[in-house]
Formats: sequence, C-alpha cells, structure tokens
Amino acid sequence: MKFVLSLFFLPAFAFALPSKEVQFELSLNKVIENATMPDVRPGMVVASPSRSNPDYYFDWVRDTALTYRALVDYYEIKKDSKIKSMIFTWIKAEAYRQNQPTFTGLGEPKYFIDGSGYTGGWGRPQNDGPALRALTMIKFARILLKEGNQDYVLKNLYHGVIPADSVIKKDLEYVAHHWRETSFDLWEEENGMHFYTLLSQHTALQEGAKLAKELGDIGASDFYEMQSNLIAQFIKSQFIDSEIGILTTIRRVNGGLGYKHSNLDVAPLLALIHTSPYQKIFSMRSAPVRKYIETLTNTFNNLYSINKAYPGLGVGIGRYPEDRYDGYQTSGVGNPWFLSTLALGEYYCHARSETKNLRYDEMVEKQIARVLFHSDRTGSLSEQFNHQSGHMQGARELTWSHNSFLTIMMRCQFI
Ligand code: NOJ
Ligand code: NOJ
Repeated sequence: MKFVLSLFFLPAFAFALPSKEVQFELSLNKVIENATMPDVRPGMVVASPSRSNPDYYFDWVRDTALTYRALVDYYEIKKDSKIKSMIFTWIKAEAYRQNQPTFTGLGEPKYFIDGSGYTGGWGRPQNDGPALRALTMIKFARILLKEGNQDYVLKNLYHGVIPADSVIKKDLEYVAHHWRETSFDLWEEENGMHFYTLLSQHTALQEGAKLAKELGDIGASDFYEMQSNLIAQFIKSQFIDSEIGILTTIRRVNGGLGYKHSNLDVAPLLALIHTSPYQKIFSMRSAPVRKYIETLTNTFNNLYSINKAYPGLGVGIGRYPEDRYDGYQTSGVGNPWFLSTLALGEYYCHARSETKNLRYDEMVEKQIARVLFHSDRTGSLSEQFNHQSGHMQGARELTWSHNSFLTIMMRCQFI
C-alpha cells in the first residue's frame, strides 16, 4: 500500500509548478551560468548552452545587452557585489569586442566565444545592438555617478573625444551616424527599417545626450539630441497604422521574407518594454499601442491551439504569425516563445502603473502562469514551446528567456 501511495504521489510532487519567486532565483542562476561559461572569454554571454541543433554557443550583442540590462537593474535593487563585478568584466569584454575587425563594424550581431566577430554568412548588420548596449551602459554609468565613482565612468564608459575611445561614446557615434540606413531586424531575417531598431536608437541617443551633457560634452549632447528627435519624427510619421496599430518593418530591401505579410510582430512590444522607462513617444495606453496589443494578442490566441487547450492561462505569444522557424530550422511552423509571452505580461505591469486598473494584475499573473506551465518545472526554459503540445523546443536554457523572467519580476515590483 505504501509503495502504491508513493508512486501515486511522487509525480505530483516532482512536477509541481515552481512559484514565480522560485523561478526568479532559478532564472537568475541560469543567467549567471550562461554569462560565466569557463571556455568563454570572461564577460561574454552565450545565447544558450546548446552547441548543436541549434548551435547557439555564441555571443549576440543584442541578447547580451539585454541580459546585462537585467543584471544592472538587479544590481540597482540589491547592490549585490558579485553582480557588480560581473558588470565590470562585461564592460571590458565589450570594449575588446568593439575593437575587433568585423564585416560590418559595430553593427556586427554575433561573435565567437573568444570575442572575435563571426565569419560565416549572416544577416548583418543588425543596428539595434549598439543602441541596446549603450542603453544598458548609460544606466550603469548613472548608478556609478550616484555612487560617486565618476573616475571609472570618465575613464571607461564615456569620454568626450573624437574619434571615440570609450564604449558608450563609440556606440552613440555609430548610432547617430547610421540610423538612416537599413539593417537586419532582431530576428535576423529582414533587411529594412524596423520599429524595434529605431525606437532603441532613438532612446539610446536621448539618454546618451543627457549623459554627455552631465559630463560636459555639450556639442555632442546637442548632436545626439537632434538625431534622437529626428528618429522620433520618423517613427511617428511612418509606423503608426490604423489597422494593426504599429507596423514592424518598412522599406524592406529586396522584398524581405516572401512569406512575412502581416507586418504584425511582437518586436514593437519588445521595443516598448526594452526602452522603458525612458522613451516618451508612446505611452503604454496610447491609442496605437492599445490597438497593436489587441491585434497581437487576438492573432496569437487564435493561431496556436495550445492557447485554446488551456484558456485559463495567459496567451502564448510568438514572434509573428507567418513565422516558420521552429527552433531548429526555418522549414517548420512557428511557436509561442517564452520571451514574447513574458513581454505581454510585462506590458500589463506598465499599463497597470499608468492606469491603476486592477484587471491588469490578473493579466500579469496569467502570462507568468502560462510560462511556468510550459516550463519543465525544474526551472528550465528553452526558446519556444510547441503550439500544439505545449512542450518546450528550440535552444535549451535560452539566456533571453530567463532574462525575460527576471525583467518581468523586477518591472512588476515582485522583487
Ligand atoms: C536563426 C535566427 O536567429 C532566427 O531568428 C531565424 O529565424 C533563423 N536563423 C532562420 O533564419
Ligand atoms: C534567434 C533570435 O531570432 C535572435 O533574436 C537572437 O538574437 C538569437 N536567436 C540568439 O538568441
């Protein structure tokens, strides 16, 4: 009898869902693990420990900038000295990487784990990278200035000379001089002008202008601000759409991906949360954003049968409805992604703080519950979960999935 009982009870224990607080700790550990792999140049972050099917054992500028944005936010809250020293090591690695010869200069999206630029064929440049990296570093610079460490900031982060010899200034110069050019989108598939890239660039320049001014680099500050304003005008005049709210990409080079028709994508949502709380062009409750969020949610809710199977949970969100990348190859069918699903939850936290509407609290919890439900329940998060079965697939322990769990918890003030 005892035996039967334990057989009966064990799986229930083994597969109980972790609480969101427990998942936060597990995700933090996974992020730290992926950011400190022993065979990787110190400071660089692997996108996932997976070395084959798919091989994500590289450092992407975007993923790493977003990872460190979460760690900088965490440091700001907890003042954890171990995290602080990781951030210093990361800054060194970025300074090294910026000086590597690559095909597209700072627009190079992907690096080998020794810090040299990837040499194979790839969708390059991807001009969101330098903007995201600058945003993370500007935030850290502000924290250091508050702590009274201006020496480090002036020596390593922002120094007002041309040609630029400090990490933030190099990125700002790159962004200010290249934002008018097309580049590949964050999904590395389409060459064009993207809402995600432009909003990141706008915000980096806006915040960069403030930092430059504080540090006495007045001429540069004016220039960055002017470029930032020009980008804002461009976004407002080109990307607002009466049908879907916000467009993803315009001016596609050579037609882009033949099958990507709707121009609806989770990328604008990611842009809004990644540039928060700095960008002021769109409030989370503005008409185009609301329209866009509604279209995005309905589209994915109807597209994936797993959303119908568990209607009590939040909505599993993918990249874009026509997606064919299944985590292994591009001849498959797209799935919901953890980072997209969490992004919708994070959106509701912001919306909640703008309107105090209690209904949003429930939406946040539902998005988190959806993610925990499809995790393996021991804290693992891959890139995607299957649109029919709900099982995880694609790169395992994706850094960006875990990092999204960290940011939702911090933005919603659960931590
Ligand atoms: C890997 C890219 O990172 C992913 O975004 C893309 O969909 C596939 N390759 C196919 O191009
Ligand atoms: C594929 C995603 O499309 C891209 O955004 C990401 O940078 C890489 N995977 C690495 O995670």
